[in-house]
Amino acid sequence: MSEKPLIIALSKGRILKETLPLLKHAGIEMLEDPAASRKLIFDTSHPNVKIVIIRATDVPPFVQHGGADLGVAGKDVLMEHGAEGLFEPLDLEIARCKLMVAGLKDAPPVSGRLRVASKFVNVARRYFAQQGKQVEIIKLYGAMELAPLVGLADRIVDIVDTGNTLRANGLEPTEVIAQVSSRIVVSRASMKTRHGEIQTILDKLEQAVIEKRTQQ
Ligand code: ATP
Ligand code: PRP
Repeated sequence: MSEKPLIIALSKGRILKETLPLLKHAGIEMLEDPAASRKLIFDTSHPNVKIVIIRATDVPPFVQHGGADLGVAGKDVLMEHGAEGLFEPLDLEIARCKLMVAGLKDAPPVSGRLRVASKFVNVARRYFAQQGKQVEIIKLYGAMELAPLVGLADRIVDIVDTGNTLRANGLEPTEVIAQVSSRIVVSRASMKTRHGEIQTILDKLEQAVIEKRTQQ
């Protein structure tokens, strides 16, 4: 076993909450509660594995550039970031939602170029280009649902789960861009140099996903 710890990158919130039980199944448990700490890097019950806690959107670049060997990221974030330098070997089937286009309920047709607000600007541009539509993209970092209400945009591209946030703001979904769940990503470099250790973890995680699926 290599001396250097294997680093797993997770993000706070739903990914952390839903990944920890799967990691436990793979023999990896956090030794302290990250919610009760200002630390960003944590020891685990596995002597050679550490967990770092970062922003969800930072997981792909972190893994790609060698800051972590593996990580967990939503398919939405992966589609936006691109797959360069990354393997995506396992769907953890957690944090399920959809990437959708939405607009004001009963909005009249838009004449001229559609204005689309999103934090997923690459996904949005690609999607509308595939529809043969040239659009103006407005990059936002949150509260996308507000954009059509205040006349900032005609459409948004955002995550939808229950649809409650759309409904609460008088919006309705118009198109599904992609079904989303969170995936394990592994750096191509680590997959070469530490294949055995990583594959052992992947195999156990896959077992945990299968068991959870059969219990549902
Ligand atoms: P950041 O901190 O980088 O802005 P974030 O706030 O989007 O990230 P989360 O809200 O924890 O982070 O979302 C993490 C992932 O969970 C998303 O990338 C998406 O795949 C999924 N997700 C987001 N919202 C929902 C939801 N309402 N229901 C289910 N899954 C969701
Ligand atoms: C996400 C997303 C939507 C909402 C959709 O926000 O950005 O606003 O969930 O879920 P719904 O269809 O079930 O309403 P989240 O709850 O993660 O809050 P955030 O904006 O702080 O990320």
